[in-house]
Amino acid sequence: MKDVFILGIESSCDETSISIVKNGCVDVYTCVLTQMDTHAEFGGVVPEIASRMHTENITMVLEDVLTNSNISWDMIDAIAVTYAPGLLGSLLVGLEFAKTLALIHNKPLIAVNHIAGHIYANRLVEPIVFPSLGLVISGGHTELILMKGDYDFEVLGSTLDDSIGECFDKVARILGLKYPGGPNVEKYASMGRASYNLPIPMNDDSLNFSYSGLKSYIINLVHNEEQRGNEINKYDLAASFQSVAADELVRKTSLAIDKYNVKNIIVAGGVSANKYIRGELENLAKEKNIHISIPPMKYCTDNATMIAAAAYPLYKQKKFASFDINAKSQDDIY
Ligand code: KG4
Ligand code: ZN
Repeated sequence: MKDVFILGIESSCDETSISIVKNGCVDVYTCVLTQMDTHAEFGGVVPEIASRMHTENITMVLEDVLTNSNISWDMIDAIAVTYAPGLLGSLLVGLEFAKTLALIHNKPLIAVNHIAGHIYANRLVEPIVFPSLGLVISGGHTELILMKGDYDFEVLGSTLDDSIGECFDKVARILGLKYPGGPNVEKYASMGRASYNLPIPMNDDSLNFSYSGLKSYIINLVHNEEQRGNEINKYDLAASFQSVAADELVRKTSLAIDKYNVKNIIVAGGVSANKYIRGELENLAKEKNIHISIPPMKYCTDNATMIAAAAYPLYKQKKFASFDINAKSQDDIY
């Protein structure tokens, strides 16, 4: 069978990335240009700056990929792009770029949901066995997803308010740690002890999540202690938060494993870069005697490799997008 090469484009937030993936699972070449340092000065992603920087950088990113991948246009079978969810202005840069390339080079266009991309980051490591339970933990999402087949998703539960990544970022800010907050909270947590007694986020048997109560509790705690002139132990508070946040993920994932009787779990999204959370989920898998797949660090945060990988089953099913497709800041995974 002929090899299939898909060129993927990702620009939904603050990474401009283009990748070429062979047969949905081999990373031929990937370029990721992050804007993190620019946004760090503002304490978070500034949407207007993000889209302008994508516009400045995307052509250079493509040039890098074409120069270093040893793949020519005639070898590329399709152009895949993230169309949703994300920052609208940022998504539009990638989407219009993809449409133009598809039109000029006469290639089919494949529209990929960003969350599906995060899940398919695991396909770069090993085949996905169905049914699988996906746990997506990122800056925008906290979701449990049942996959019965290729690119076939059923959302079992999601966050009712803040995502877990958002909560990591807000806790970082209240502790005076720099953006991006997640990795910095993890660093502080590794030096502390989980000695603060924090509320369990959503003490119920549903498969939904809620992190805003935990976040507000920590903000109030820090403010109250400051007003009293007491010092907060930032390391211990970070460790306590990380432990409660991870416990909730483990508890809900465990409920879903039992309810749907799955033998495989797939972890995806930026927060899966957190070593403590990875460890807790690996312990759960061991305890339940099921297989767990977590992408290597470089595929946890935003990249186009995962977008090209997720596009492969759509390519095989000939599910191509038309040129009037628009970007969406929100869209269900399906
Ligand atoms: O998947 P991602 O790169 O972008 C979205 O699609 O949202 O996830 C970004 C989120 C941010 O909230 C960031 O703070 C969090 O992932 N994150 C982490 C870690 N690395 C990134 N959270 C906790 N621990 C980490 N090591
Ligand atoms: Zn993402």
